Amino acid sequence: MNYPQHIAIIMDGNGRWAKKQGKPRTAGHYKGSENVRDIAIAANDLGVKVLTLYAFSTENWSRPEDEVNYLMKLPSVFFEAYLKELMKNNIRIAFIGEMDKFPAETRKVMENAIEKTKDNTGLILNFALNYGSRREITLAVQKIASEVKDGTLEVGDINEQVIENHLMTADYPAIDLMIRTSGECRLSNFLLWQLAYSEFYFTEVSWPEFTKEELVKALDIYANRHRRFGGL
Ligand code: FPP
Repeated sequence: MNYPQHIAIIMDGNGRWAKKQGKPRTAGHYKGSENVRDIAIAANDLGVKVLTLYAFSTENWSRPEDEVNYLMKLPSVFFEAYLKELMKNNIRIAFIGEMDKFPAETRKVMENAIEKTKDNTGLILNFALNYGSRREITLAVQKIASEVKDGTLEVGDINEQVIENHLMTADYPAIDLMIRTSGECRLSNFLLWQLAYSEFYFTEVSWPEFTKEELVKALDIYANRHRRFGGL
């Protein structure tokens, strides 16, 4: 099967799912975090190399304070519950985004998850937290400009590869497939550069209800697409 190596997911619909159940939005995020465990293990079993999940965007700060606080603490709750199981599945944990905005306690848990799983050779489960693509590109431009200023880089040597190397995803293969759940069809400032030639898959299914079967359905559709990268 021609399955993707790197999948990115916009995990949308937690709030609507919770509302349907008569529960607070935070219950939807909790259920969504449980599903992160299930889908990470499923993706690992299917041979996917990297799974990048949009868990908190630079725009999510504008949500009500109690929801933001809940989302800030969710990584701690998640790793407390599932780090052992992820470890057993040979899954490596990584993050992109600006972590310095997270509470110290949450950062400690995240650093511990990176450290504990650093030698694992299975799926890389990469959380985008306090991540926004425009911010990422802005930071890359700043770094490149300072290298030019220091004299370590010539303006004429700035090419696409140099830009890629300065993005937060520099260590990972190109993203083959981007999935967004829950019916919205937009990118919401997610990986704008990296998704230039990726396949997109949009589904009405909400993130808490996005099962392994739904993932396999998306991968089968991907496998039957013909990627031309601008050629014929
Ligand atoms: C979008 O749904 C979802 C988020 C902004 C948060 C996603 C976070 C998780 C799924 C949990 C992540 C897990 C860890 C371990 C960090 P929404 O709230 O916008 O849903 P709505 O559009 O239905 O309101």
